[in-house]
Amino acid sequence: MKDIRFSKFVLSVNALVPLALLLWDVYRKQVGANPLEFVTRTTGMLTLVFLLITLAVSPLRKITGLNWLVKFRRMVGLFAFFYGFLHLLTYVWFDRYFNFRSMIGDILERPFIAVGMAAFVLMIPLAITSTNKMVKRLGGKRWSQLHKLVYVAGAAAVTHYWLLVKSDTRLPLTFGFILLLLLGHRLFLKYYPPDPHLPQKTLLPRD
Ligand code: HEM
Repeated sequence: MKDIRFSKFVLSVNALVPLALLLWDVYRKQVGANPLEFVTRTTGMLTLVFLLITLAVSPLRKITGLNWLVKFRRMVGLFAFFYGFLHLLTYVWFDRYFNFRSMIGDILERPFIAVGMAAFVLMIPLAITSTNKMVKRLGGKRWSQLHKLVYVAGAAAVTHYWLLVKSDTRLPLTFGFILLLLLGHRLFLKYYPPDPHLPQKTLLPRD
C-alpha cells in the first residue's frame, strides 16, 4: 500500500513536469512569436498523449501480465482530463476572452473546434465517475459501460487533431494508427477470448 502511494506520487510529479516546463517557458518568454498557439498546441498534445497512455494500459496489462499497471490507469486518465481542461481554458480565456457568443460561432464555423469540444465533453462524466464511491454507486457493469465513452473521446481527439492540421497529416495519422491498434486489441479479445482452461491472470481490485 505504501509502495503504491509512493509510485503514484512519483507518477504525479512526472506528469506535472511538462506543465512546469511550459510555465517556465512562458515565464522566460521562450514561447515563440505566437505564445497562444504555443500553449494551445502544447496542452493539446499533452491531452492526446495522456489519453492514449490511458487507453494503452489495458492492452499492455493483458499482453505483459503486469496487472499492477491498472492501479495507475485512473490517475493517468485524470491527467488527460487535467491537460484537456488547461487546453480548453487557454482557448476560452486567451483566444476567446470568455466571449461565449464568439465561441459558439467558432464551433459552428470550424469543425475541428466542435470535435475537440465533443472530445472534452465526453471526458467530463468519466472524470466525475472516477472515484471509488462512484464505481460503487453505479455498479461495476454500468460503470464499465459508461467508461467505454473513452473510446469515443479518443476517436474524437484524434479526429480533432487530424482536422486542424492543414498540410502534413503524418503525426495525426500516426496517433490515429496507435488508437486503432489499442482499440483493435480490445475488439480482437472480444471475438477471440483467451482459452478459459488456461491459467488466467488474476484481476486486481480497483485501487
Ligand atoms: C480531449 C480533448 C482535446 C484533445 C486531445 C486535443 C488535442 C489537440 C492537439 C493534439 C492539438 C494540436 C497540437 C499540435 O499542433 O502540436 C490541438 C490544437 C488545438 N486545439 Fe485541441 N484538443 C482537445 C480539445 C479541444 C477543445 C475543447 C478546444 C476548443 C474548444 C480545442 C481547440 C484547439 C485549438 C484552437 C488548437 C490549435 C489549432 C491551431 O494551432 O491551428 N481543442 N488540440
